[in-house]
Amino acid sequence: MNTSNQLALPPIALREISEEDAFDVLQFESSNSTFFEQWVPARSPEYFEETSLRQVIRDLMADPDRFYLVRSHSNELVGRINLRNLGKAPHDTAELGYRVGEKHQGKGYAKASVLAIVEQTRAERTLTYLEAFAADNNPASSNVLLACGFQWDKAGTKTVQHNSNPLTLHHFVLTL
Ligand SMILES: CC(C)(COP(=O)(O)OP(=O)(O)OC[C@H]1O[C@@H](n2cnc3c(N)ncnc32)[C@H](O)[C@@H]1OP(=O)(O)O)[C@@H](O)C(=O)NCCC(=O)NCCS
Repeated sequence: MNTSNQLALPPIALREISEEDAFDVLQFESSNSTFFEQWVPARSPEYFEETSLRQVIRDLMADPDRFYLVRSHSNELVGRINLRNLGKAPHDTAELGYRVGEKHQGKGYAKASVLAIVEQTRAERTLTYLEAFAADNNPASSNVLLACGFQWDKAGTKTVQHNSNPLTLHHFVLTL
């Protein structure tokens, strides 16, 4: 059932990445790289040239993990969302990662994407938990997870290196 919050979210289409998306992905990653690198590691150079990006996409398609593109009602590529660690221990858990283009911030695309993945994974009935990490300098990401029903798991907090500085990542878990 939709809540009033969900009713305000934009319509989206989620589809697993394929080679025909190469040009759109190139534009999306190139135009947002500086924005994304504030919070997440930089993409490899192969992402920024069409021939090498096509190979990256073929590798993603062959990977057991799932890599989705998020498109708006007008078919514009507005974001990406991934399910990782599929087929790996612990087998009941997958890790969610997502990004939304700079010009589409604050319109509900991340929440709509996370809710769509939650609904899909619930329907598949193969996983018990979704987990995600949000950096402590990224309150928007924590907000997205909490709004979608994830709970903060304080014990799962970890520190990584980002742009040569330590960065605290908060762990969030959703029981499907
Ligand atoms: C985090 C990110 C995915 C959010 O995407 P988005 O489409 O703008 O998110 P939504 O619009 O669905 O929701 C964002 C929520 O955070 C809130 N928010 C935004 N900036 C905020 C800030 N600086 N402090 C607190 N809350 C903030 C918004 O108000 C909104 O909550 P609300 O609807 O309750 O008001 C996007 O900023 C992004 O791609 N960042 C770079 C990559 C990244 O950080 N990925 C996550 C790591 S896995």
